[in-house]
Amino acid sequence: MKTLHKYSVHIGKESLDYLQQFIANNNYSGVVVLTDENTHKHCYPLLKGSLSSYNVINVKSGEGYKNLSTCLSIWQQLSDLGCDRKTLLINLGGGVLCDMGGFVAVTYLRGIDFVHIPTTLLSMSDACIGGKLGVNFNGIKNQIGMFHNPKAVFINVDFLKTLSEKHYLSGYAEIIKHALIASVQLFSKLIQSGEYKENIEKLVTRSIKIKSSIVCFDPLEKGRRKALNFGHSIGHALESFFIINNHRKPVYHGEAVAAGMIAESWISWKRNFISIEELEMISSLILRFFPKLNISKEDIPKIAANVKMDKKNEYNQKLFILLNGIGQCRINEIVTDEEIMLSLEYYLSL
Ligand SMILES: NC(=O)c1ccc[n+]([C@@H]2O[C@H](COP(=O)([O-])OP(=O)(O)OC[C@H]3O[C@@H](n4cnc5c(N)ncnc54)[C@H](O)[C@@H]3O)[C@@H](O)[C@H]2O)c1
Repeated sequence: MKTLHKYSVHIGKESLDYLQQFIANNNYSGVVVLTDENTHKHCYPLLKGSLSSYNVINVKSGEGYKNLSTCLSIWQQLSDLGCDRKTLLINLGGGVLCDMGGFVAVTYLRGIDFVHIPTTLLSMSDACIGGKLGVNFNGIKNQIGMFHNPKAVFINVDFLKTLSEKHYLSGYAEIIKHALIASVQLFSKLIQSGEYKENIEKLVTRSIKIKSSIVCFDPLEKGRRKALNFGHSIGHALESFFIINNHRKPVYHGEAVAAGMIAESWISWKRNFISIEELEMISSLILRFFPKLNISKEDIPKIAANVKMDKKNEYNQKLFILLNGIGQCRINEIVTDEEIMLSLEYYLSL
């Protein structure tokens, strides 16, 4: 079985001290920091004191720039700076920069070292772990890429102070997902917590442990790692629906996944995999943080039709991750169109 190399994850205020040590220990010929305009403004000032000599490559922010054109520009700048194989690339940003910076590093000169300094809640609790790298292509998310781990990850939740609420919530949805698929204890903590920023460093740490424990058994997503897609089959269908119907207020990934988790929990309940009390707890936790999406009964068939585009489907069958009690899940469950539509009706009824 192919495995990916191990790497250390440093969490806490002192994590940037470890970065200094890491750079000193590895005798790099040069260090390049990759930023976008927001992380350059808000996060780079916190980082630069930890570095002595380095260059910065700055790209435009957002999913729309996670593509090969931006990679070309980064490769060009690395080349213009004379970066050799002993250069370190530091990805200072959210999931977009972690995925794209890692991809650029693995392909430049057949591979230079890279580390992630995630700066969004989503990248801290999810994207910086597991080695998925890549960019969007022809309008399809993450169509070009590879699995390759960073040399290390450095997490300081102080970066989150400047993050917008909507991006904060996107990350929170993934933390809820980690609890639902793998930890009833974490789920109880989330239920008890007052607001979503409470104890965020502990939640990030717990989330990373859960994701690491899943990906280390299935680094290339042949089986168990698919669990991390819970809520995403219907979530992605909702996202596509709002992209197509662009006269409506757009929804963010986390909001769509949050609604998807409610719907997919309903299917889990319908199949007797979770109790009605569990379904109600899940729905009320999610609705505490995520307002209901603006969809109507007439939209449901269109949203359900989008599920057929899901990457997890095989042989024309819609394969879902369903819960098996809170904290456990079942992968590759074949789901019918009727179940999908009824689950969305349940969501609407809340
Ligand atoms: N590799 C994986 O396993 C994995 C997992 C989940 C998601 N992803 C990918 O992650 C991406 C989404 O990541 P994201 O939600 O972090 O989006 P993002 O990287 O686009 O960041 C969101 C926005 O916040 C800004 N920002 C980042 N840090 C900030 C800070 N500290 N203060 C103020 N603004 C800040 C960014 O400039 C951007 O505008 C998607 O492309 C998705 O495919 C990857």
